[in-house]
Amino acid sequence: MTAPTVKIVRTVAELRAQVGAWKAAGERVALIPTMGALHEGHLSLVRLGQKRARRTVASVFVNPRQFAPHEDFDAYPRGEARDAELLASVGCDLMFAPDVAEMYAPGFSTTVNLTGVSEPLEGAARPLFFGGVATVVTKLLNQAQPDLAVFGEKDYQQLQVIKRVVRDLDIPVEIVGAPTARADDGLALSSRNAYLSPEERAAAVALPDAMKAAAKAVAEGGRVDEAEARAVAALTAAGFRQVDYVDVRDADDLSRLGPGPITGAKGRILVAAWLGKTRLIDNMAVG
Ligand code: PAF
Repeated sequence: MTAPTVKIVRTVAELRAQVGAWKAAGERVALIPTMGALHEGHLSLVRLGQKRARRTVASVFVNPRQFAPHEDFDAYPRGEARDAELLASVGCDLMFAPDVAEMYAPGFSTTVNLTGVSEPLEGAARPLFFGGVATVVTKLLNQAQPDLAVFGEKDYQQLQVIKRVVRDLDIPVEIVGAPTARADDGLALSSRNAYLSPEERAAAVALPDAMKAAAKAVAEGGRVDEAEARAVAALTAAGFRQVDYVDVRDADDLSRLGPGPITGAKGRILVAAWLGKTRLIDNMAVG
């Protein structure tokens, strides 16, 4: 029996022709934007897309515009053949893998920037990041013109940023958030986990553990500032060399909650911390 394959296209024209044909046949199309280095978390996004649409398109593009010069663009894990195999194994219909010149033609000079939800947390730690994400996601949505697009809640602030851009720019697409896929010990699946040494991988479980303990304490009526401080202390004790943030925030607009107990607000705890050279992020609902 031959292994399943996925059709790969590299140009916007080919992508539009295929999606256009599906839509003309009355088939709904889901886009799953990725930067490749696919893992079970990405495949769960494809599966969710398949529940909501007859056709799924995964884009695989390591977007240079969302990396600062000192960040890991060159080192970011890449492996197109493996990505294609994984997409084929779950029955994804199309892989869109443009090169940088196809995505950013010479003279490209437009950036989608937003205020508010993009400013704290990842926006503060990585000032270029959300402009790069918002620009490439706007382009991908215009290129593919899907009925819906699926993004992981693992990058919770990114999901809120994309929802804001789609509302603000009247992009006719439904944005669907998918629950975070986790390893057995609770660590969120991430392409960057590949950077962790075996010792760091063992220590990394402190992140979901500290986050869960803080979320539980706040959900049970504890003070936000105390729960956040305990989580920072737990991460430091476990060997994290720097904690960028442990914040309990409003789940929709990401404004700060606390410092006392939260009442009535829908909270989300968000964490970013460094283990050696690797920056890990995670988040979960409070209550
Ligand atoms: O989450 C990612 O992998 C990327 O930020 C995205 C949404 C594919 C844009 O490059």
